[in-house]
Amino acid sequence: MNLPVKSIDELKDAAKQLIEFGGKEKIFLFYGDMGAGKTTLIQSLCECLGVHEPVTSPTFSIVNEYEGERTRVFHFDFYRLKNQSEALDMGYEEYFYSGNYCFIEWPGKIADLLPPHYIRVNIQVLDSNERLLTCDKI
Ligand SMILES: Nc1ncnc2c1ncn2[C@@H]1O[C@H](COP(=O)(O)OP(=O)(O)OP(=O)(O)O)[C@@H](O)[C@H]1O
Ligand SMILES: [Mg+2]
Repeated sequence: MNLPVKSIDELKDAAKQLIEFGGKEKIFLFYGDMGAGKTTLIQSLCECLGVHEPVTSPTFSIVNEYEGERTRVFHFDFYRLKNQSEALDMGYEEYFYSGNYCFIEWPGKIADLLPPHYIRVNIQVLDSNERLLTCDKI
């Protein structure tokens, strides 16, 4: 599925469609260059799920945890991961297989540890405010 996003105002709607596209799948991997809009899209997704607390990229840890209306949300940013064993050490599997939503930035850093099924979202920057989201079920 392709989701064109002409401006940041359209993100909320795209986020809704992305959750619907996911269906039962709760693990979402976000690919895209630095500044493409992974965190910003995850903010909209969290809003859709009824998260009221601030959503920012985890800086001191690898994962942030939020409470949504009917679900918990785990937000990972693996950018600073030095090697995949760090992910093993932080117990990434417990989060992935917890049945809660998992939104993952920089999944390429854990390429060997990816779960068997997930939603892959690629964010392509078309213009300063315009993005193309390419979404696939893996
Ligand atoms: N349609 C859009 N979707 C997402 N972000 C947008 C859009 N239009 C403009 N932006 C801006 O692009 C920037 C995206 O930054 P963001 O931190 O979300 O990127 P990121 O992919 O998470 O980067 P990083 O790899 O550093 O984590 C923000 O400043 C945001 O306001
Ligand atoms: Mg980010």
